[in-house]
Amino acid sequence: MIDLESVAVITGAGGTLGRAAAVSLSSAHTLVLLDVNEDAALATLAELPESSREHRAWSGDLASELPVREAFALAESIGPVKALVNAAGNTTGGSLHNLGFDEWNATMGSCLTTVFLCTQAAVRSMMRSGGGVICTLGSPHADRAVPGYPAYSAAKAGVAALTRHVAAEYGQFGIRSNIVTPGWTRAPHTESRLSPTDRQGLLDSTPVGRLNDPHDVAAAIAFLCSSEASQITGAELRVDGGADALTPSSLLRPQQRIKLGLLP
Ligand SMILES: NC(=O)c1ccc[n+]([C@@H]2O[C@H](COP(=O)([O-])OP(=O)(O)OC[C@H]3O[C@@H](n4cnc5c(N)ncnc54)[C@H](O)[C@@H]3O)[C@@H](O)[C@H]2O)c1
Repeated sequence: MIDLESVAVITGAGGTLGRAAAVSLSSAHTLVLLDVNEDAALATLAELPESSREHRAWSGDLASELPVREAFALAESIGPVKALVNAAGNTTGGSLHNLGFDEWNATMGSCLTTVFLCTQAAVRSMMRSGGGVICTLGSPHADRAVPGYPAYSAAKAGVAALTRHVAAEYGQFGIRSNIVTPGWTRAPHTESRLSPTDRQGLLDSTPVGRLNDPHDVAAAIAFLCSSEASQITGAELRVDGGADALTPSSLLRPQQRIKLGLLP
Protein backbone atom coordinates (compact mmCIF):
# COMPACT_ATOMS: atom_id res chain seq x y z
CA MET A 1 0.00 0.00 0.00
CA ILE A 2 1.38 3.46 -0.84
CA ASP A 3 1.63 6.08 1.86
CA LEU A 4 -0.54 8.92 0.54
CA GLU A 5 0.62 11.28 3.26
CA SER A 6 4.38 11.10 2.69
CA VAL A 7 5.29 14.58 1.48
CA ALA A 8 8.24 15.58 -0.68
CA VAL A 9 9.11 19.27 -1.02
CA ILE A 10 10.90 20.28 -4.22
CA THR A 11 12.46 23.71 -4.57
CA GLY A 12 13.09 25.19 -8.00
CA ALA A 13 10.28 22.88 -9.08
CA GLY A 14 9.47 25.09 -12.05
CA GLY A 15 13.00 24.68 -13.43
CA THR A 16 14.40 21.92 -15.59
CA LEU A 17 15.85 19.61 -12.93
CA GLY A 18 13.19 20.38 -10.31
CA ARG A 19 10.52 19.44 -12.85
CA ALA A 20 12.28 16.21 -13.81
CA ALA A 21 12.69 15.33 -10.11
CA ALA A 22 8.99 16.03 -9.52
CA VAL A 23 7.96 13.60 -12.25
CA SER A 24 10.30 10.93 -10.79
CA LEU A 25 9.07 11.34 -7.21
CA SER A 26 5.38 11.84 -7.92
CA SER A 27 4.34 8.22 -7.44
CA ALA A 28 6.14 7.80 -4.10
CA HIS A 29 5.19 11.09 -2.43
CA THR A 30 2.62 13.84 -2.39
CA LEU A 31 4.59 16.76 -3.79
CA VAL A 32 4.78 20.39 -2.72
CA LEU A 33 6.32 22.22 -5.66
CA LEU A 34 8.05 25.48 -4.71
CA ASP A 35 9.39 28.14 -7.05
CA VAL A 36 9.67 31.90 -7.11
CA ASN A 37 8.17 31.68 -10.60
CA GLU A 38 4.50 30.85 -10.08
CA ASP A 39 3.71 30.04 -13.73
CA ALA A 40 6.65 27.64 -13.90
CA ALA A 41 5.59 25.84 -10.70
CA LEU A 42 2.03 25.50 -12.05
CA ALA A 43 3.37 24.20 -15.37
CA THR A 44 5.21 21.44 -13.50
CA LEU A 45 2.06 20.62 -11.55
CA ALA A 46 0.17 20.28 -14.84
CA GLU A 47 2.85 17.92 -16.21
CA LEU A 48 2.67 15.36 -13.40
CA PRO A 49 1.17 11.99 -14.25
CA GLU A 50 -2.46 11.48 -13.14
CA SER A 51 -2.69 9.99 -9.65
CA SER A 52 -4.81 9.94 -6.52
CA ARG A 53 -2.29 12.22 -4.82
CA GLU A 54 -3.12 15.90 -4.42
CA HIS A 55 0.15 17.55 -5.38
CA ARG A 56 0.39 21.31 -4.76
CA ALA A 57 2.29 24.22 -6.26
CA TRP A 58 3.29 27.25 -4.21
CA SER A 59 5.29 30.33 -5.17
CA GLY A 60 7.59 32.53 -3.14
CA ASP A 61 11.19 33.62 -2.74
CA LEU A 62 12.90 30.80 -0.83
CA ALA A 63 15.87 33.01 0.01
CA SER A 64 13.65 34.71 2.64
CA GLU A 65 12.59 33.28 5.98
CA LEU A 66 8.87 34.05 5.98
CA PRO A 67 8.02 32.42 2.62
CA VAL A 68 9.99 29.31 3.63
CA ARG A 69 8.06 29.11 6.89
CA GLU A 70 4.76 29.41 4.97
CA ALA A 71 5.79 26.81 2.39
CA PHE A 72 6.72 24.23 5.04
CA ALA A 73 3.55 24.97 7.02
CA LEU A 74 1.61 24.09 3.87
CA ALA A 75 3.67 20.90 3.41
CA GLU A 76 3.22 19.78 7.03
CA SER A 77 -0.53 20.41 6.82
CA ILE A 78 -0.63 17.62 4.20
CA GLY A 79 1.57 15.11 6.02
CA PRO A 80 5.08 14.48 7.36
CA VAL A 81 7.84 15.90 5.16
CA LYS A 82 9.86 12.81 4.26
CA ALA A 83 11.94 14.27 1.42
CA LEU A 84 13.37 17.60 0.33
CA VAL A 85 14.97 18.19 -3.05
CA ASN A 86 16.91 21.46 -3.23
CA ALA A 87 16.87 22.29 -6.95
CA ALA A 88 16.42 26.08 -6.77
CA GLY A 89 19.38 28.13 -7.97
CA ASN A 90 20.32 30.45 -10.80
CA THR A 91 23.64 29.84 -12.56
CA THR A 92 24.90 33.39 -12.62
CA GLY A 93 28.31 34.57 -13.81
CA GLY A 94 30.54 37.63 -13.64
CA SER A 95 34.29 37.86 -13.09
CA LEU A 96 35.44 38.78 -9.60
CA HIS A 97 36.94 42.17 -10.49
CA ASN A 98 33.62 43.31 -11.99
CA LEU A 99 31.20 41.52 -9.72
CA GLY A 100 28.74 43.86 -8.02
CA PHE A 101 27.80 43.28 -4.38
CA ASP A 102 24.16 42.88 -5.45
CA GLU A 103 25.12 40.20 -7.98
CA TRP A 104 27.12 38.34 -5.31
CA ASN A 105 24.17 38.51 -2.93
CA ALA A 106 21.71 37.38 -5.62
CA THR A 107 23.79 34.27 -6.39
CA MET A 108 24.30 33.47 -2.71
CA GLY A 109 20.56 33.98 -2.18
CA SER A 110 19.31 31.66 -4.91
CA CYS A 111 22.04 28.99 -4.67
CA LEU A 112 23.00 28.90 -0.97
CA THR A 113 20.47 30.74 1.22
CA THR A 114 17.55 28.80 -0.31
CA VAL A 115 19.38 25.57 0.59
CA PHE A 116 20.13 26.78 4.12
CA LEU A 117 16.57 27.91 4.87
CA CYS A 118 14.78 24.95 3.26
CA THR A 119 17.19 22.40 4.73
CA GLN A 120 16.78 23.95 8.17
CA ALA A 121 12.97 23.82 7.86
CA ALA A 122 13.11 20.22 6.60
CA VAL A 123 15.48 19.10 9.37
CA ARG A 124 13.20 20.61 12.02
CA SER A 125 10.19 18.89 10.50
CA MET A 126 11.99 15.54 10.04
CA MET A 127 13.30 15.58 13.63
CA ARG A 128 9.67 15.78 14.77
CA SER A 129 8.45 13.03 12.44
CA GLY A 130 11.24 10.45 12.77
CA GLY A 131 13.54 11.22 9.86
CA GLY A 132 13.68 11.81 6.13
CA VAL A 133 16.00 12.48 3.25
CA ILE A 134 17.45 15.62 1.70
CA CYS A 135 18.92 15.71 -1.78
CA THR A 136 20.64 18.87 -3.02
CA LEU A 137 21.83 19.80 -6.49
CA GLY A 138 25.55 20.51 -6.41
CA SER A 139 27.86 21.52 -9.23
CA PRO A 140 31.33 20.64 -10.52
CA HIS A 141 32.04 24.37 -9.94
CA ALA A 142 32.16 23.57 -6.19
CA ASP A 143 35.65 22.13 -6.43
CA ARG A 144 36.93 23.23 -9.87
CA ALA A 145 37.26 26.86 -10.92
CA VAL A 146 35.42 27.92 -14.05
CA PRO A 147 36.57 31.46 -14.96
CA GLY A 148 33.68 33.90 -14.75
CA TYR A 149 31.71 32.08 -12.03
CA PRO A 150 33.30 32.92 -8.65
CA ALA A 151 30.06 33.54 -6.74
CA TYR A 152 28.37 30.43 -8.13
CA SER A 153 31.45 28.33 -7.24
CA ALA A 154 31.54 29.70 -3.70
CA ALA A 155 27.82 29.10 -3.24
CA LYS A 156 28.03 25.50 -4.49
CA ALA A 157 31.06 24.81 -2.25
CA GLY A 158 28.91 26.06 0.65
CA VAL A 159 26.10 23.74 -0.39
CA ALA A 160 28.49 20.76 -0.34
CA ALA A 161 29.73 21.68 3.13
CA LEU A 162 26.19 22.11 4.46
CA THR A 163 25.19 18.73 3.04
CA ARG A 164 28.05 16.94 4.81
CA HIS A 165 27.24 18.80 8.01
CA VAL A 166 23.59 17.71 7.99
CA ALA A 167 24.63 14.10 7.34
CA ALA A 168 27.07 14.17 10.27
CA GLU A 169 24.87 15.92 12.81
CA TYR A 170 21.39 14.60 12.01
CA GLY A 171 22.03 10.97 11.01
CA GLN A 172 21.14 10.09 14.60
CA PHE A 173 17.63 11.44 13.92
CA GLY A 174 17.15 9.26 10.84
CA ILE A 175 17.92 12.12 8.46
CA ARG A 176 20.07 11.50 5.37
CA SER A 177 21.58 14.26 3.25
CA ASN A 178 23.33 13.84 -0.10
CA ILE A 179 24.38 15.81 -3.15
CA VAL A 180 23.74 15.03 -6.79
CA THR A 181 26.29 16.78 -8.97
CA PRO A 182 25.23 16.93 -12.59
CA GLY A 183 27.57 17.61 -15.44
CA TRP A 184 26.25 19.85 -18.21
CA THR A 185 22.54 19.03 -18.51
CA ARG A 186 20.12 20.05 -21.24
CA ALA A 187 18.06 23.04 -20.01
CA PRO A 188 16.95 26.31 -21.66
CA HIS A 189 19.57 28.28 -19.72
CA THR A 190 22.41 25.88 -20.60
CA GLU A 191 21.47 25.39 -24.26
CA SER A 192 21.35 29.16 -24.85
CA ARG A 193 24.97 29.55 -23.68
CA LEU A 194 26.43 26.71 -25.72
CA SER A 195 28.02 27.28 -29.13
CA PRO A 196 28.46 24.27 -31.47
CA THR A 197 32.21 24.34 -30.66
CA ASP A 198 31.52 24.31 -26.93
CA ARG A 199 29.11 21.41 -27.37
CA GLN A 200 31.77 19.43 -29.23
CA GLY A 201 34.30 20.26 -26.50
CA LEU A 202 31.89 18.96 -23.86
CA LEU A 203 31.21 15.79 -25.83
CA ASP A 204 34.96 15.22 -26.29
CA SER A 205 35.42 15.40 -22.53
CA THR A 206 32.51 13.07 -21.70
CA PRO A 207 33.64 9.44 -21.87
CA VAL A 208 30.19 7.98 -22.50
CA GLY A 209 29.85 10.25 -25.54
CA ARG A 210 26.56 11.94 -24.72
CA LEU A 211 25.49 14.83 -22.52
CA ASN A 212 22.94 14.60 -19.68
CA ASP A 213 19.22 14.71 -20.17
CA PRO A 214 17.28 15.96 -17.12
CA HIS A 215 15.89 12.48 -16.45
CA ASP A 216 19.47 11.17 -15.94
CA VAL A 217 19.77 13.54 -12.98
CA ALA A 218 16.22 12.86 -11.76
CA ALA A 219 16.91 9.11 -11.66
CA ALA A 220 19.86 9.71 -9.30
CA ILE A 221 17.71 11.95 -7.10
CA ALA A 222 14.93 9.34 -6.95
CA PHE A 223 17.46 6.64 -6.00
CA LEU A 224 18.99 8.72 -3.19
CA CYS A 225 15.51 9.59 -1.90
CA SER A 226 14.45 5.92 -1.87
CA SER A 227 14.86 3.33 0.88
CA GLU A 228 17.32 1.52 -1.45
CA ALA A 229 19.79 4.26 -0.44
CA SER A 230 19.13 4.02 3.31
CA GLN A 231 22.83 3.56 4.11
CA ILE A 232 23.99 6.44 1.88
CA THR A 233 24.46 9.83 3.50
CA GLY A 234 27.02 12.62 3.27
CA ALA A 235 27.77 11.40 -0.24
CA GLU A 236 28.12 13.09 -3.59
CA LEU A 237 26.78 11.27 -6.64
CA ARG A 238 28.18 12.59 -9.92
CA VAL A 239 25.95 12.30 -12.97
CA ASP A 240 28.27 13.45 -15.74
CA GLY A 241 28.96 10.58 -18.13
CA GLY A 242 32.42 10.20 -16.59
CA ALA A 243 33.61 13.77 -17.25
CA ASP A 244 35.00 14.18 -13.73
CA ALA A 245 37.08 11.03 -14.09
CA LEU A 246 39.25 12.59 -16.81
CA THR A 247 42.50 14.39 -16.04
CA PRO A 248 42.44 18.18 -16.58
CA SER A 249 44.49 17.95 -19.78
CA SER A 250 41.79 15.70 -21.23
CA LEU A 251 39.29 18.48 -20.63
CA LEU A 252 41.01 20.78 -23.08
CA ARG A 253 39.38 21.17 -26.45
CA PRO A 254 40.80 19.09 -29.32
CA GLN A 255 42.48 22.12 -30.97
CA GLN A 256 44.29 22.86 -27.71
CA ARG A 257 45.22 19.22 -27.29
CA ILE A 258 46.68 19.17 -30.82
CA LYS A 259 48.67 22.34 -30.03
CA LEU A 260 50.05 20.71 -26.87
CA GLY A 261 50.98 17.58 -28.78
CA LEU A 262 48.45 15.48 -26.86
CA LEU A 263 46.63 14.53 -30.09
CA PRO A 264 48.15 13.91 -33.55
N1 LIG B 1 21.38 22.25 -15.77
C1 LIG B 1 22.66 22.01 -15.52
O1 LIG B 1 23.48 21.78 -16.43
C2 LIG B 1 23.18 21.99 -14.09
C3 LIG B 1 24.46 21.47 -13.87
C4 LIG B 1 24.96 21.45 -12.55
C5 LIG B 1 24.18 21.93 -11.50
N2 LIG B 1 22.91 22.44 -11.76
C6 LIG B 1 22.16 22.93 -10.61
O2 LIG B 1 20.91 22.29 -10.53
C7 LIG B 1 19.92 23.19 -10.01
C8 LIG B 1 18.75 23.26 -10.98
O3 LIG B 1 19.23 23.64 -12.27
P1 LIG B 1 18.24 23.81 -13.51
O4 LIG B 1 19.03 23.52 -14.72
O5 LIG B 1 16.97 23.09 -13.26
O6 LIG B 1 17.99 25.39 -13.43
P2 LIG B 1 16.68 26.21 -13.85
O7 LIG B 1 17.12 27.62 -14.06
O8 LIG B 1 15.99 25.52 -14.97
O9 LIG B 1 15.76 26.12 -12.55
C9 LIG B 1 16.08 26.77 -11.35
C10 LIG B 1 14.77 27.18 -10.72
O10 LIG B 1 15.06 27.75 -9.43
C11 LIG B 1 14.14 28.81 -9.22
N3 LIG B 1 14.67 29.73 -8.22
C12 LIG B 1 15.82 30.45 -8.28
N4 LIG B 1 15.98 31.20 -7.18
C13 LIG B 1 14.89 30.95 -6.40
C14 LIG B 1 14.45 31.45 -5.14
N5 LIG B 1 15.15 32.38 -4.47
N6 LIG B 1 13.29 30.97 -4.62
C15 LIG B 1 12.56 30.05 -5.31
N7 LIG B 1 12.92 29.55 -6.51
C16 LIG B 1 14.07 30.00 -7.05
C17 LIG B 1 14.00 29.47 -10.60
O11 LIG B 1 12.82 30.24 -10.71
C18 LIG B 1 14.01 28.25 -11.53
O12 LIG B 1 12.70 27.80 -11.82
C19 LIG B 1 20.64 24.51 -9.80
O13 LIG B 1 21.03 24.60 -8.45
C20 LIG B 1 21.85 24.42 -10.69
O14 LIG B 1 22.91 25.18 -10.18
C21 LIG B 1 22.40 22.47 -13.02
